[in-house]
Amino acid sequence: MSADGYIDDATPERLRLSSPADFDRVDAVRADCDAILVGAGTVRADDPKLLVRSAARRERRVARGLPADLVKVTLTWSGDLDPGARFFTTGEAPKLVYAPPAPAAELAPRLAGLAEVVPAGDPLDLREVLADLAGRGVRRLMVEGGGGVHTLFLTADAVDEIQLVVAPFFIGDPAAPRFVRSGVFPQSPDRPMRLEEVTRIGDLALLRYRAGAPRG
Ligand SMILES: NC(=O)c1ccc[n+]([C@@H]2O[C@H](COP(=O)([O-])OP(=O)(O)OC[C@H]3O[C@@H](n4cnc5c(N)ncnc54)[C@H](OP(=O)(O)O)[C@@H]3O)[C@@H](O)[C@H]2O)c1
Repeated sequence: MSADGYIDDATPERLRLSSPADFDRVDAVRADCDAILVGAGTVRADDPKLLVRSAARRERRVARGLPADLVKVTLTWSGDLDPGARFFTTGEAPKLVYAPPAPAAELAPRLAGLAEVVPAGDPLDLREVLADLAGRGVRRLMVEGGGGVHTLFLTADAVDEIQLVVAPFFIGDPAAPRFVRSGVFPQSPDRPMRLEEVTRIGDLALLRYRAGAPRG
C-alpha cells in the first residue's frame, strides 16, 4: 500500500506499488503456499496471472511433489467473471470460484473446463469456503487483495499473518481503493496485532504482523 493506505490509484491502469525486489519476495512467499486467493474485483481490475514466476521455485515445488502452480481461488456474488481472464487461462493447477448458489449455477456452464464453481452459502460463508479448501488439501492460503477481500478475511478474524509493504509515496485520492474498507475489525486497539518483523526493501518497508487471536 501507499504511505497513506491506498492499494491502487483511481485510474483504470494497474498501479505497481512494489519494486522488482519485492515482487521477487512475494514470488518466494507464493511458492511456499498451496493456494492463492483474490477477489473478483481484482480479477476484473488487474487481470492477474497469479503464477509462481521463478523457474527454480517452480522446479523445487515439483521436486517436493507439488504442482508448479498454486491452486487459484476467487469469490464473487455478482458472477461477473470473464472466462478469458488470465486467472482462468494461465497455469495448470485447479481454479476455484466460490459463490452463493444462484450465481454459482449461472457461472458453472460459462466456466466449464476452466474452473470449478463451488456454491458456498447464501450469503457466502467464509468458514465454508475455508473448510472446503482445507478438504482439498490447502493448508496455507495466500490472500493477495483487494480491499474488499482483505476486509472480509480480517473482519471474520480468519487471518494468521499480514505482510504489509509500504511504498514511499502518497496517493491522496479518496476515490482510490484502500487496503481495507470500513468494517468492525477484531484487530482493534483492544486487541492489537503483534509486529513480528520490520525489513527494509530499498525504499519500501515490509511489516509482518501476526493477526490472529492470541493463542495460549
Ligand atoms: N496493491 C496491491 O497489492 C493490490 C492487490 C490486489 C488488488 N489491488 C487493487 O484492489 C482493487 C480491487 O479491490 P476491490 O476491493 O474492488 O476488489 P476485491 O477485494 O479484489 O474483490 C471484491 C469482490 O470480491 C467478491 N466478494 C468479496 N466478498 C465476498 C463475499 N462475502 N461473497 C461473495 N463475493 C465476495 C465480490 O465480487 P463481485 O463484485 O463479483 O460480486 C466483491 O465485489 C483494484 O484497484 C486492484 O488494483 C491492489
